[in-house]
Amino acid sequence: MKIGVSGRLPDEVVSMLEQEHDMELHLEDRPMKRKRLLDLVGDKDGLLCMISDTIDSELMDRGPRLKMIANYGVGFDNIDIKVATSRGILVSNTPDVLTDATADITFALMFAVARRVVEGDRITRAGEFRFWAPLNFLGREVSGKTLGIVGLGRIGRAVARRASGFNMQVLYNNRRRINGPEERALGVEYLELEALFSRADFVSLHVPLTAGTRHLVGVRELGLMKPTAYLINTSRGPVVDEGALEAALREGTIGGAGLDVYENEPAVNPGLLELDNAVLLPHVGSATVETRTLMGLRAAENLLAGLKRKRPPDCLNWEGVSGGEGQSGLDYKG
Ligand code: DGY
Repeated sequence: MKIGVSGRLPDEVVSMLEQEHDMELHLEDRPMKRKRLLDLVGDKDGLLCMISDTIDSELMDRGPRLKMIANYGVGFDNIDIKVATSRGILVSNTPDVLTDATADITFALMFAVARRVVEGDRITRAGEFRFWAPLNFLGREVSGKTLGIVGLGRIGRAVARRASGFNMQVLYNNRRRINGPEERALGVEYLELEALFSRADFVSLHVPLTAGTRHLVGVRELGLMKPTAYLINTSRGPVVDEGALEAALREGTIGGAGLDVYENEPAVNPGLLELDNAVLLPHVGSATVETRTLMGLRAAENLLAGLKRKRPPDCLNWEGVSGGEGQSGLDYKG
């Protein structure tokens, strides 16, 4: 069968795929232009796509042979799953393998913004570190503070586990409250969103982007936060109203923000670029050699399974496409 890949992949992943199928690879690190992506799927049975590719009905129209789309990433807001399902196309993502890397970068952002790491580096390089003084360059402690986690999925839980090592009190909000023994094991306390925003010293977002979470954090929620509190976003940019965040940071109604994702990525609200109380990363939550390799292998495993009409380990729409939970294989599209 023929596979299209829309981003440059680790060598191990390419070897794994080319052993079984013909491949057309995009050999650049920048995202494929839309027109090239539309051309790529024309004669392909499978697509391994990036989270920056929009996989919509127009694209699926252009790929009449498509049977399987494997996303290189855990978030899948870039893919219209409903349309894929209606056309019998399986879709998968890459959960688990990036949980630790993303939880780590969450803490990196918490420390960077609260302890002014980036600002300090800039000042030192500029030759402006002239003396030590008790009140110079003060940040705020992370240890012992209250962390509010919004979205207690895999990554939210990994963040909660790390927080216990820093002696933090952990509050959470989730679509569904987890059970008591689980709450106790993780050391987390459930709160309504409003109360979480008012009590936390750090609010960290770990929800997927859906119609319900778009602008989950706006003027109202930011207004509930303490003037010393920090907002951390490693989930998806549009979960936060970036204009409202810029205003809160500029006016000092919150202490700071650590962001890995942006509302109109890769564009960043120019106002944010001017602010010292924002630490801004270029969507690198999963960007370690280890994790990006594992993500590629996982996407490849999903793709190969789907093309064999077997249930891909991380399939997002198996029931919808196969028409029943119990089936172990599919007879679709010839
Ligand atoms: C994902 O996989 O969704 C991440 O955002 C990539 O780092």
